[in-house]
Amino acid sequence: MTTRLRLTLLLLAACLSPPWAAASDPGDLPHFAHKDGRHAFVVDGAPFLILGGQCGNSSAWPSELPGVWSAVERMHANTLEAPVYWEQFEAAEGTFDTSNVDALIQGAREHGVRLVLLWFGTWKNGSAHYLPLWMKAKPGTYPKITGKNGLLVDSPSPHYPATLEADTRAFRALMRHLKTFDAAHTVILVQVENEAGAWNSIRDYSPTAQAIFEGPVPGELLGALGLASRAGGDWQAVFGPDADEFFHAWSVAHFIGQVAAAGKEEYALPMYANAALRDPIAPGPAGTYESGGPTDNVLAIWKAAAPALDVLSPDIYQNDNAKYRRVLDLYARPDNPLLVPETGGSAWYAHMLFAAIGRGAVGWAPFGIDRGVDAAPAGASRRPDEDPLAALGLDYRIVAPVMREVARLNFEGRLQAVAEDKDVPTQALGFGRWQAVVSYGISRFGSGTPRGNPEPIGGAIIGSTGEDEFLVAGRSCRVDFRVADAASRAQREFLRVEEGTYEDGAFRVIRIWNGDQTDWGLNFGSGPVALRVRLRSY
Ligand code: DGJ
Repeated sequence: MTTRLRLTLLLLAACLSPPWAAASDPGDLPHFAHKDGRHAFVVDGAPFLILGGQCGNSSAWPSELPGVWSAVERMHANTLEAPVYWEQFEAAEGTFDTSNVDALIQGAREHGVRLVLLWFGTWKNGSAHYLPLWMKAKPGTYPKITGKNGLLVDSPSPHYPATLEADTRAFRALMRHLKTFDAAHTVILVQVENEAGAWNSIRDYSPTAQAIFEGPVPGELLGALGLASRAGGDWQAVFGPDADEFFHAWSVAHFIGQVAAAGKEEYALPMYANAALRDPIAPGPAGTYESGGPTDNVLAIWKAAAPALDVLSPDIYQNDNAKYRRVLDLYARPDNPLLVPETGGSAWYAHMLFAAIGRGAVGWAPFGIDRGVDAAPAGASRRPDEDPLAALGLDYRIVAPVMREVARLNFEGRLQAVAEDKDVPTQALGFGRWQAVVSYGISRFGSGTPRGNPEPIGGAIIGSTGEDEFLVAGRSCRVDFRVADAASRAQREFLRVEEGTYEDGAFRVIRIWNGDQTDWGLNFGSGPVALRVRLRSY
C-alpha cells in the first residue's frame, strides 16, 4: 500500500469514526463522551452501560466477598460497586493498606466484571463514621459541625484544612495505587465520599464557619450562577432564605471537588458524587432532607464548586413511578450524565431500569445485593420470602446481551425505553414514520385489551438500527408497530423478525420468529430475547 493511499484510508477512517472513538482506543482510560446534550460512558473504547449492583456497607471485606460475587453472578451484573473504607485503608496514619481493594480487583477480574469504587472518606451518609481511629481521637483537629443551638452534630465540617489535607492525601494514595495495580482498568469509575452533607443541621454554625458565612460569596460561584453583579455580597445578602443551605452545598462540594481533583492528578479515572435526595415533586423546606449534598436544587452550585466531578448522581429510593421519573428528569441534563448508583431492590424497582435507560442512563445499580448485615434496601416492598435477586437477575439477563448496543444507540439518540406505569397498560413511542406500541397484561394470542400486569413490572427497549429496522427487547410486555400517520391507510407488515445475539457488535441470528410468534405482535416474558425487526407497510 502506498503511503498516500494509507494516509487517505486513515483520514477516511477518522471521518467515519463515531464521536467517542476519536479520543479512545481499547485500553484507553474509561471516560465520558458528550454530544448534542447526550452522554456515553466509554469503556474499552465504546459506550458502556453499567448494569450494576452495590454490596452492603460492611461487605467489601475479603471474608464477605464470596457472597458478594455470588450475588453479582446471580444478577448477571457487569459491574460491582463496592466501598473502600478510609478507616481500613489508612488505619495507621500515613500508611496505606491496599489489601481490601486488591482483593476486590482480583475478584472482579476472576468474575469478568468491572468495579466502581466508593471512597468512604470524610462523609458517609452525612456522618464521619469512616474516619480512621487516629482522626477520631483528635476531634479538635477534625471537627464535627455545630448546630444552630450550639451543640455538635454528627457530621464532619467542610471548613477545616486538616480534614481536607488528610482526605486528599489518602485519596491520592488510593488513586496512585490503582494506576499501577490496575492497568487493565477493572476499576472504571470512582465515587468520591458517600451521600455527603449533613442531617440535623442545615450548615455548620461554629464561629469558624460563621466567619466564612459572613464573608463574600466566592466570585467563581457568582459567575457560574450569573450573579457577577452581586460581587462582594455575603451569603445572606446574596441568597437570602437559601443562604444557609447554599453555603453548606458550596462548602461540601468545594471540599470534595478538591479531593477529586487531587485524585485525578494521580490517575484520571472519571468520578462522581451521590446524593440522598429530597422529595423531587414536593420538597419540604431545607432541614427536612440532607443538606449540602448534590440535591436537585443545588446542582449548579456543585457543578461550579467541583468541576473535577464528572457526574452528580441520585440515589433513588422513591418507591413511586412519578417521583422516580421526576428524579431521572432532574439529573439527566446536558451538563450531567444520568447515573443511578443506588436504588431499591424489588421487582418494582427492577423494572425502573427500563425507565432509566429511556432517560439515557449510563448506569444503574440496586443497593445491598448481597443481603449482608446492613443490606436491606430502603424503600423496598417485598415479601420476606422473596429473593430480590431473582427479579433483578431477570432484568439484567434481558439487557446484558444488548448492553453495548443499548449504550451506543442511546448516545446516538436512536433509542427509547419505557417502564410500565400502574394503570397505564399501553405506551406509544414515535420513531419517524413508525410508532412502537408497548402493551402490558395482554394474552399472548389475539388482539385483546391490555390490562396491565398484576404488578407493574414490564418494560421495553426499542432502538432504531436502520431504515425500517429495530432492535427490540423487553420484559412482560407486547411490542408492536404501526404506521405513525394516523390518517394513513397503510398497514405494517413484519418483513422479518429475527431472534439473535450480538457478537463483537454484529447481530448473529439464532432463529426467525413467525406465525404465532409474530401474528399478534411480539410478546416478551421474563427470558432474555433480543429481536431484530424489519418492517414494511402495505
Ligand atoms: C444510602 C447509602 O448511600 C448507602 O451506603 C446505604 O447506607 C443505604 N442508604 C442504606 O439504605
